[in-house]
Amino acid sequence: MSDQALLNPVKLGRYNLPNRVAMSPLTRNRATNPEHAPTELHTTYYTQRAGAGLIITEASQISPQGVGYPNTPGIYSDAQVAGWRHVTDAVHAAGGHIFCQLWHVGRISLPDFHAGELPVAPSAVNPETTLYAPDFSQKPTVTPRALDHSEIKGIIEDYVRAARCALEAGFDGIEVHAANGYLLNQFLIDSSNQRTDEYGGNIENRARIVFEVLDAVTAIWGADRVGIRLSPSGLFNIGAGSDNRAQFDYVIERLNDYALAYLHLMEPFAPVDEMPNMVPHVAQHYRPRYHGTLMINNGFDQARGNEVIAQGHADLVAYGRLFISNPDLPARFATGAPLAEPDQDTFYVGGEKGYIDYPAYVAA
Ligand SMILES: Cc1cc2nc3c(=O)[nH]c(=O)nc-3n(C[C@H](O)[C@H](O)[C@H](O)COP(=O)(O)O)c2cc1C
Repeated sequence: MSDQALLNPVKLGRYNLPNRVAMSPLTRNRATNPEHAPTELHTTYYTQRAGAGLIITEASQISPQGVGYPNTPGIYSDAQVAGWRHVTDAVHAAGGHIFCQLWHVGRISLPDFHAGELPVAPSAVNPETTLYAPDFSQKPTVTPRALDHSEIKGIIEDYVRAARCALEAGFDGIEVHAANGYLLNQFLIDSSNQRTDEYGGNIENRARIVFEVLDAVTAIWGADRVGIRLSPSGLFNIGAGSDNRAQFDYVIERLNDYALAYLHLMEPFAPVDEMPNMVPHVAQHYRPRYHGTLMINNGFDQARGNEVIAQGHADLVAYGRLFISNPDLPARFATGAPLAEPDQDTFYVGGEKGYIDYPAYVAA
């Protein structure tokens, strides 16, 4: 394969994508209106990035209960559907493909987002971190309320409503966010799931909600327009489990039964070689175990992205921070144009600044 494997076309579910450079989901907190609906700013931002083989949107809450950060967009109301419809129409007109990332934060939230009520989680275990309140002040997390068994069906219904909203909004597909310590990840890992009903305990029980969500949303979309994101060796927002490796081996091997559009895996943020229950090289470990399209992410540059694909360890690479500052990232990879550095100060605030004002590269 050429040394520009990233630029080869790839089939993803029912779509033929022009390249293997995906835009990773990126929370940017620009839905500042009371409806938490995407605006013209979002339309401009995503359209500027339509050269990505696939855009995965910022995490979008499936319900008011699923929110945990200021000004993130939702995918459960008419106003949100209308806002997203502008985004998807514009991205399609520019030749792009766009999936919506469906999100429930679980315990990674504050009572400030829920009229003083506690955030919900599999079990009453405090994640012991700090989060941004709606006014962007930093606050320590609280001990969440354990979901009652009877409430879990309601959460599946919220995924169903969000999946229907995403269809109505004209997306090409959806990505179920089961990574980075949010609700579905909280169920998978025994440091946050201490339930004694059929949603807790052994590996199969802890994975139950993930497969119930997948069964529900693939019934709406077809499996070939649904992806899922997992962070098997992730320690962001979540403590290590006693059996991460066995847990994710089980989940990922079972995903083979689904024929999903793709599986999106994250390499660890920090080395986990000293932790026997964690997988240090995620793509390498899971490539032979997963038979569908595999997307890999975390800390890749162009050279390492080309390498991981050429070696056959992944089919696509998702780029996050590089897409913030280089809206035309695949074109820059193609021409060898210099890459702009992202400004961290405007990741989560700043309106247009640091959002839609990174220019495409123009040769001097
Ligand atoms: C500003 C910012 C926002 C992010 N928001 C999300 C998100 O909404 N959903 C998600 O799954 N990951 C999110 N992530 C993680 C990224 O998708 C990606 O995994 C991470 O940036 C590592 O990839 P990179 O090295 O190419 O940037 C976010 C990361 C950053 C920097």
